[in-house]
Amino acid sequence: MATLSDAQPKLRVAVLVSGNGSNLQVLIDAMQAGALPIEIVGVISNNQDAFAISRAKDAGINVSVLSHVANGKRMALKTFEKYAFEQLTNWQPDLIVLAGFMRVLSANFIEYSPAPMINLHPALLPAYKGLDTHQRAVNAGDRVHGCSIHLVTAELDSGQVLTQAVLNVSPKDCAQSLQTRVQKLEHQLLPWTILLLAKGVLPLNNDDYSPSAYLPNLPLKLVL
Ligand code: GRF
Repeated sequence: MATLSDAQPKLRVAVLVSGNGSNLQVLIDAMQAGALPIEIVGVISNNQDAFAISRAKDAGINVSVLSHVANGKRMALKTFEKYAFEQLTNWQPDLIVLAGFMRVLSANFIEYSPAPMINLHPALLPAYKGLDTHQRAVNAGDRVHGCSIHLVTAELDSGQVLTQAVLNVSPKDCAQSLQTRVQKLEHQLLPWTILLLAKGVLPLNNDDYSPSAYLPNLPLKLVL
């Protein structure tokens, strides 16, 4: 049976991770099933203990571990970025996905990135940029919460938001339960967003987001 991936050139995707890598796994599974027209050309982890590394290796994907701490010493951001840039340039991705990548990249790295970058953020941007998003949503008594995928620009969590998945917060929710529930949304939002990017429905260029009278404004929202 012909699959989606047979029908068109594959988007070359590099993924940057720091931890468990459940979002990476979703992409691996979708790629292997032929549900996404992508090839994951490599994974970079800034954490040598990240379970995401095993997930990538098990799938036969190139992994580069650029640990942020080695022998008790923290790798300078400049050094990390030098190696990451070399590695990414080598892999020639069309798209770089930050999926649970917990190091803030410099404006210089972002500007000269070998491919456009998207980031998965566990809140409905522009609300709750940065960390502790679920606790902040609970503290504020928010009725809705969710996750966003946005283009990465020099300003933290501030690039064009492409897509969002939204859930209703229950009075019983705490930060932990929201994290679990939001992660389930992430696992749907990430492959859908990459499919839209791979098919050219969403443009990868930050300058291409001119409002259209015929199409709804971004972000596209998925309510689950
Ligand atoms: C995700 O919840 C993401 O929103 C946050 O880090 C988590 C990564 O999860 N930035 P995983 O490593 O993909 O399992």
